[in-house]
Amino acid sequence: MPDRTKILQRFIDATEAGIRARAADFPDAMAMTDRIFTALKSGDGAAPATPPTRLPARLPVCDHLEAALDHARGGPVPELGAAFAAIEPAFVWFRRPEAAQVAGDFYENHANAVIIGDGGLEARRDVRIGVSLVAPDIHYPRHHHPPEELYVVLSSGKWMQNDNPLVPKQSGDLVHNPPNVWHAMQATGTAPLLAVWCLWTGT
Ligand SMILES: [Fe+2]
Repeated sequence: MPDRTKILQRFIDATEAGIRARAADFPDAMAMTDRIFTALKSGDGAAPATPPTRLPARLPVCDHLEAALDHARGGPVPELGAAFAAIEPAFVWFRRPEAAQVAGDFYENHANAVIIGDGGLEARRDVRIGVSLVAPDIHYPRHHHPPEELYVVLSSGKWMQNDNPLVPKQSGDLVHNPPNVWHAMQATGTAPLLAVWCLWTGT
């Protein structure tokens, strides 16, 4: 087992438990889930740690964090909400680099943080885990990426895949994106959207 803090291990365990609780509904995502959480028990994928470019800090949109975490703690994944709240003070929140080119209010109204992977609290090559927060009524633009991805929804919102209509997802739901699938999300008018994302970046 890699040498990591108790709060980080708690967050990893709570993320895995949240995913496995829905295994029956998302059988296609379980091979990736096994790869990720088996890898995280070994130090093989560890990468040299890069010095942080910024100190842990929130962005203005993080004012919505408490509401989002209240939602998570009151739903089917309370332990993940509590584990998130415990480790969040260590996060270096950032905006998507491309966000400045997005029209509208997206730039000021979203934030991401990396927990595992390049630029995260634990540097690794094979797994990337992070979180996204989106303010109420804000659309997180469609994007795609080669790594397969699994989101755990902490605070409800609407989700798009393959340019199909947005569908509502509640706290505890999963969103599984096969490699390179277009996807996006939209916070509702009344609640911030908060989700944990897991990417398999190994071979
Ligand atoms: Fe994504």
